[in-house]
Amino acid sequence: MQGHAMCLKLFLAIALLLLLCVQGGEVSRNHRDANGTGRCIEKERQALLAFKRGLVDKSDCLSSWGSEAQKQDCCRWIGVSCSNQTGHVLQLDLSFNVIRSRLEVKMISPKLIELQYLHHLDLHEIDFNGSQIPDFIGSLSNLRYLDLSDTLFGGKFPSQVGNLTNLQYLDLSENYNYNTNAENLDWLPRLSSLTYLDLSFVNLNNVFNWAEVINKLPELTNLTLFGCGLPSPILSTLSYINSSKSLASVDLNSNKLSTSIFLWLSNYNTSLVDLYLSDNLLAGSIPDVLGHMSSLAYLSLSINQLEVWAPHSFASLCSLQSLDLSSNDLTGSLPDLTNLSLQSLDLSSNDLTGSLPDLTNLSSLEVLRLNNNKFSGAISGTHFSKLSKLQVLDLSWNDLAGSLPDLTNLSSLEEFNLYNNQLSGGIPESIGRMSKLKTIDFHMNSLEGVILETHFSKLSKLQVLDLSSQNSSKSLVLDIHADWIPPFQLDSIILPSCKMGPYFPKWLQTQKNLSYLDISDAGISDILPSWFLSLCRNVEFMNLTGNQIRGSFADLTLEFSDSSINNLILDLSSNKLEGPIPSVLSKALYLDLSNNNLSGSISFLCSSAAIGLLFLDLSRNNVSGEVPDCLTHLENLVMLDLSYNALSGKIPTTIGSVFRIETLKLRSNRFVGQLPSSLKNCTSLVLVDVGDNKLSGPIPKWLGVSLSYLVILMLSSNHFNGSLPTQICHLTDIQILDFSMNNISGSIPKCLNNLTTLAQKGISILEIKHFLGRLDGTTTYEDDETLIWKGRMQTFKSILGLVKTIDLSSNRLTGEIPSEITHLVGLVSLNLSRNQLTSQITPEIGNL
Ligand SMILES: *[C@@H]1O[C@H](CO)[C@@H](O)[C@H](O)[C@H]1NC(C)=O
Ligand SMILES: *[C@@H]1O[C@H](CO)[C@@H](O)[C@H](O)[C@H]1NC(C)=O
Ligand SMILES: *[C@@H]1O[C@H](CO)[C@@H](O)[C@H](O)[C@H]1NC(C)=O
Ligand SMILES: *[C@@H]1O[C@H](CO)[C@@H](O)[C@H](O)[C@H]1NC(C)=O
Ligand SMILES: *[C@@H]1O[C@H](CO)[C@@H](O)[C@H](O)[C@H]1NC(C)=O
Ligand SMILES: *[C@@H]1O[C@H](CO)[C@@H](O)[C@H](O)[C@H]1NC(C)=O
Ligand SMILES: *[C@@H]1O[C@H](CO)[C@@H](O)[C@H](O)[C@H]1NC(C)=O
Ligand SMILES: *[C@@H]1O[C@H](CO)[C@@H](O)[C@H](O)[C@H]1NC(C)=O
Ligand SMILES: *[C@@H]1O[C@H](CO)[C@@H](O)[C@H](O)[C@H]1NC(C)=O
Ligand SMILES: *[C@@H]1O[C@H](CO)[C@@H](O)[C@H](O)[C@H]1NC(C)=O
Ligand SMILES: *[C@@H]1O[C@H](CO)[C@@H](O)[C@H](O)[C@H]1NC(C)=O
Ligand SMILES: *[C@@H]1O[C@H](CO)[C@@H](O)[C@H](O)[C@H]1NC(C)=O
Repeated sequence: MQGHAMCLKLFLAIALLLLLCVQGGEVSRNHRDANGTGRCIEKERQALLAFKRGLVDKSDCLSSWGSEAQKQDCCRWIGVSCSNQTGHVLQLDLSFNVIRSRLEVKMISPKLIELQYLHHLDLHEIDFNGSQIPDFIGSLSNLRYLDLSDTLFGGKFPSQVGNLTNLQYLDLSENYNYNTNAENLDWLPRLSSLTYLDLSFVNLNNVFNWAEVINKLPELTNLTLFGCGLPSPILSTLSYINSSKSLASVDLNSNKLSTSIFLWLSNYNTSLVDLYLSDNLLAGSIPDVLGHMSSLAYLSLSINQLEVWAPHSFASLCSLQSLDLSSNDLTGSLPDLTNLSLQSLDLSSNDLTGSLPDLTNLSSLEVLRLNNNKFSGAISGTHFSKLSKLQVLDLSWNDLAGSLPDLTNLSSLEEFNLYNNQLSGGIPESIGRMSKLKTIDFHMNSLEGVILETHFSKLSKLQVLDLSSQNSSKSLVLDIHADWIPPFQLDSIILPSCKMGPYFPKWLQTQKNLSYLDISDAGISDILPSWFLSLCRNVEFMNLTGNQIRGSFADLTLEFSDSSINNLILDLSSNKLEGPIPSVLSKALYLDLSNNNLSGSISFLCSSAAIGLLFLDLSRNNVSGEVPDCLTHLENLVMLDLSYNALSGKIPTTIGSVFRIETLKLRSNRFVGQLPSSLKNCTSLVLVDVGDNKLSGPIPKWLGVSLSYLVILMLSSNHFNGSLPTQICHLTDIQILDFSMNNISGSIPKCLNNLTTLAQKGISILEIKHFLGRLDGTTTYEDDETLIWKGRMQTFKSILGLVKTIDLSSNRLTGEIPSEITHLVGLVSLNLSRNQLTSQITPEIGNL
């Protein structure tokens, strides 16, 4: 007996040990069979290896799959799962989520059908490269889960999946790159166990019975047919409905459905939870039937043409959490939403009028968007007084007027957009207590008054402060103590015309995350602080134009490496800066230093860092010396303005390397010599202004041949001589041609009537707007030009397209005025005076 007891104990101990072993082995999700050999079924292993041979595995993510001894157990291979009991492969998941790489398919091995026990096959994001899904996939008859989404399969639609009658989950979506036209869905009803179906981007344009087919899937809960071109269901088919009323989630966004879809949907009155019908052809009124979908939690009807609220459309949707009706044509006042427990309400981009709705009872609201409507009147403090959970309030682009109320009850508010209204008066100090605020965007209103430190006292989460474009005679004034340490770290400070001078705002030094700073026209008349360049660190956009900032860049501390200035858009124009331009600024993308007192040479352009420069305006300063002949790396420069300085010497020949340049302005300097012939390489030039220099030599013939996009050509007040080359007649886009005050002789070419823009009346279609492709903030700039207009110097910008002139005055032209010139009916001004022309035509044809 003793021995027996011992044996029993020993047996129990071994059994326990075995059990522990087995459990230990099963911690891994892959199979280890009870025999402890860890081997999967050989035939299935061979099938998987054959399958692998049909794949291109560039990043070797299937390295665990192999025939080597240590890789024998295919149940341990990545993406493979086996049965604990039988060792059969049950699951094959090679989706991007699992293997973190995109496999390409050369050929799907027919051996795959050896995996007869497979019930889960996920090939999401494998690249079939346009080849067809093989027919034999229909033989994997145990499949319950099949995901072939985003696999770029081609050929005919894989309707053989209709043989997989055990399928519960089927995703064939996002194969839009190939012709996945489904001629019909007649294969679908055999999949009677289907609970999840996604056929998004399969072209179902001509499948008029789709709704009837869906009705035959009694277990279906989730249906996604996004962007399938679905036509509205044929109403007569609806009478044959034999549905299970099980559909819970229906996404039919971006199709061609009309309101009759609601008749079909009403079959799912009680089961629907999520309903997405955005971007369809729903028009007219929001139907009452919606009001009976008592389980609805998410409803999106955005981007349609709905106009009218049916009176009871939302009355009893007690479960509704999110209602999106944005981008419709809704008018009038809102229906009664009182009984809803909405968390999100989006009514933006409609035609809603009248005063703001009283939504105070919607106390669960977290997101409220009423922007882009025509709401008018004042914002009353009681409108939103109980919405203590509200995080987003967007009232922008309306006609709201009056002053800003105290909204401190909105204690959860993070984003507060009121821009583009007509709000006036001051900003209440109480805003400083809304401690969750991340965004204050009040731009384009008529706000005024003083902003104090208390306006920000608890705003430690604030990231965006935009108070720009206040349409008010009195502007906003920021009255803040010099030693203020703000509670926030802002990302964007957009306060143009907001007066914060005369001292440079010292608190900016505390902002370490700044990427956008606009304090233009802020009344700052201080010296540029020594820490200015460290402020530029990581900043992408900085606009300080129109202040009276003094001092020199030379006095700044360079306490960080040059690299941190990369890609900066910097506008410091119209200040009182002096001294030389530091080479660190050559790393900017867009640099406007015009209208200051900067001096010294412009050798900073020779820095190889200037390769990124797109826009450079140094006009109206006092820079001098020669333009260094080192422009070879300015290959991205589109606009160069060096006008009104004291530059001398020749225009360097390396200007020909700046071959993307569209605007070149060198007016009013002391340049001598000829126009360098390398300039003919700059074939994108639209505007060339070298007026008021000491340039000489003949007017080059290549101007008319190579620079064929020229719209404005100003060579006035130089010493150009010789005759006018006929090639200038090739400039069919030219709009302003000014050769006045030179020594040009000979006759006026007869071919001037070839200047087609001048021969057409009205505004030129040529936009003198330039696209700065690589810039994020300022993506365009517009040319301006200063010319003598009706006896006065005037600058034209936005109406430049209207100005069409030829000025050949004050030269030594002889001969007759060619009669062809009268064809230039678009000319607004023609000045041929002070020449030696012999003709009857009046030289001043001012109002042609
Ligand atoms: C296999 O065993 C693991 C670990 O005990 C368990 O989590 C898993 O559900 C089992 N799989 C099957 C298909 O029974
Ligand atoms: C376990 O081993 C036994 C005896 O060798 C064998 O008959 C059985 O097929 C094995 N089981 C598996 C799953 O390999
Ligand atoms: C993908 O298809 C293209 C064109 O049919 C072919 O040239 C290319 O070799 C294919 N790639 C693979 C990995 O099969
Ligand atoms: C699908 O089923 C039909 C009839 O049941 C059969 O004729 C056909 O061969 C099957 N196709 C595949 C790919 O298994
Ligand atoms: C309706 O469904 C039931 C059970 O699923 C089925 O027996 C019957 O044939 C179906 N009728 C129609 C017209 O499809
Ligand atoms: C199916 O829809 C329900 C209800 O919207 C949702 O909760 C569930 O996550 C969806 N199932 C899948 C697999 O997406
Ligand atoms: C859904 O609700 C509407 C309105 O009560 C009703 O007319 C319709 O019969 C209901 N549909 C179903 C299938 O119950
Ligand atoms: C809101 O609910 C109350 C109480 O259940 C009910 O009396 C009232 O009619 C409902 N209002 C609407 C508009 O359905
Ligand atoms: C808000 O609810 C209160 C109490 O239920 C009710 O008296 C009031 O009329 C409601 N206000 C609105 C605008 O629906
Ligand atoms: C800087 O601001 C002024 C006026 O606020 C504006 O005209 C100018 O275009 C801005 N500069 C840039 C680069 O955006
Ligand atoms: C002309 O432009 C090309 C690029 O279009 C450039 O490679 C070449 O160096 C330029 N030639 C001169 C003379 O600057
Ligand atoms: C002017 O245009 C005519 C007709 O298009 C053309 O034949 C002629 O060569 C052009 N003359 C010049 C100088 O461009």
